[in-house]
Amino acid sequence: MVLEAKGIKKEFTNGEVSNLVLKGIDFNVDDGEFVAIVGESGSGKSTLLYILAGIDRPTEGSVVLLGKNFADISDKEIAQMRRNDFSFVYQFDNLVPNLTVYENIVLPLVLDKKKESEYKTQAEDVAKYLGIDSALKKFPAQLSGGEQQRVAIARALVTNPKVIFLDEPTGSLDKERGKQVMELLKSINKDKGVALVMITHSQAHAEYASRIVKMEDGLLG
Ligand SMILES: Nc1ncnc2c1ncn2[C@@H]1O[C@H](COP(=O)(O)OP(=O)(O)O)[C@@H](O)[C@H]1O
Ligand SMILES: [Mg+2]
Repeated sequence: MVLEAKGIKKEFTNGEVSNLVLKGIDFNVDDGEFVAIVGESGSGKSTLLYILAGIDRPTEGSVVLLGKNFADISDKEIAQMRRNDFSFVYQFDNLVPNLTVYENIVLPLVLDKKKESEYKTQAEDVAKYLGIDSALKKFPAQLSGGEQQRVAIARALVTNPKVIFLDEPTGSLDKERGKQVMELLKSINKDKGVALVMITHSQAHAEYASRIVKMEDGLLG
């Protein structure tokens, strides 16, 4: 088991108004699984994914990821885990505009103070695997949406994570590019055994996963 979440509730409070967005969610992910979370806009999918990845904390409930209970560790330790053991691909492109593609891909390794000699070949291999090796010296704005999304995936993959969380990775792509990214995610899961937890709006894209769960009004079906 890579992920075990129990009784997750999340309440946002704004002045006197409170909004219970997650109403008690149990969710597990096995080693090497590919799970798609589908559901309407506003149903709480991103909120859940942030909590599973330790970007946000639940109001109630527990998350144990790769054997670590987030309740027992600091945000800093979680951030360190996110650079080493698992990764997150944001819904909206999160590349650094003034860094090259190569620099964007290796950013988690640089932040982790790794030496370039230790990761250069790995970064080039990942770029090749994702078909963006000819773009390494370019800047994000010079790439298509689909290429940018592949750079974000390369950055998520370069650290050899055991789990990758993805928030609508194909949300801003046209049909053909979306399909290409889904094919890539499926091969990453198969070839590298990385567990994937992906939010998607698209039923067709969800079907690339080995399991589909439905989010409805703050609960998982
Ligand atoms: N930081 C926040 N503060 C207050 N409300 C929030 C916050 N983040 C999300 N919400 C609310 O939680 C609900 C679910 O949002 P979200 O998880 O983004 O849904 P989804 O990803 O399924 O579209 C929405 O009503 C949204 O307005
Ligand atoms: Mg969302």
